[in-house]
Amino acid sequence: MKGSWVRAWLRYAGEAAKIMRLVFLGAPGVGKGTQADKAAVHYRIRKISTGDVLREAVRNQSSLGREAKEHMDQGRLVPDSVVIGLVQERLADPSCENGFILDGFPRTVPQADALGKVLVERSLPLDRVINFRVSREEIVKRLSGRRSCPKCQATYHLEFAPSKRGNLCERCGEALAQRSDDQREAIEMRLRVYEEQTAPLIDFYEKRQVLSHLNGAEAVDTVYHNLLKALETSQTA
Ligand code: AP5
Repeated sequence: MKGSWVRAWLRYAGEAAKIMRLVFLGAPGVGKGTQADKAAVHYRIRKISTGDVLREAVRNQSSLGREAKEHMDQGRLVPDSVVIGLVQERLADPSCENGFILDGFPRTVPQADALGKVLVERSLPLDRVINFRVSREEIVKRLSGRRSCPKCQATYHLEFAPSKRGNLCERCGEALAQRSDDQREAIEMRLRVYEEQTAPLIDFYEKRQVLSHLNGAEAVDTVYHNLLKALETSQTA
């Protein structure tokens, strides 16, 4: 009994001590956010989703939100200068000292360069970049069926991950909504933008030997299991 308690404590302490600095890369809808939520809890590290930060600014109708909204609704990227500043600010926060997951950043080569510069300045290594891969057909299915909570950002899917409370968020009870950029036209544009501006980052990080590819087309729990396996085996790379 005592031995199992000690083993459990050592496992807890080991996981808690692990500092992970991660980037989750992939086309819209591959499941970056879903997996980032789970991994952030597991490693007790901060998740920074530029999409969530920008949507919050839009909801608050701040000047950033007003600038971002037009780009986001059309499925285009928000200008690098805006997004880089946001991420720099968050990475400087003490809550990132134990590590972080960047979900949806970087998305362009200038953003990746800016991230590299910040990390070098602070002598922080980037442990891993995970590239989630899912077919285009599956992506369209996932995005068109996605429903999100406008209040706490929890994500559901009408078919693959429905809320147990129907159209209400399981966590906070808010009515779920469809994102404005999950309409067909915006989805097409986001996929085009991904191919043109974000896909080159695969090569960028491959050259720096920090990239792992992951099949994101499996069930959520299977992807998560494989993600943890990939992170545990490639930490020192
Ligand atoms: P952002 O919010 O980052 O959108 P995205 O990258 O397009 O990614 P998504 O959130 O759509 O998908 P995801 O991969 O997180 O998948 P999810 O887990 O939700 O960005 C939105 C906009 O903000 C951009 O278009 C741009 O305008 C702007 N922006 C953001 N970052 C920027 C940057 N760095 N630079 C410039 N502009 C930026 O899953 C999707 C659905 O699938 C869910 O319903 C989920 O329940 C379901 N699902 C997930 N995994 C599985 C699975 N394994 N099996 C079945 N269903 C699954």
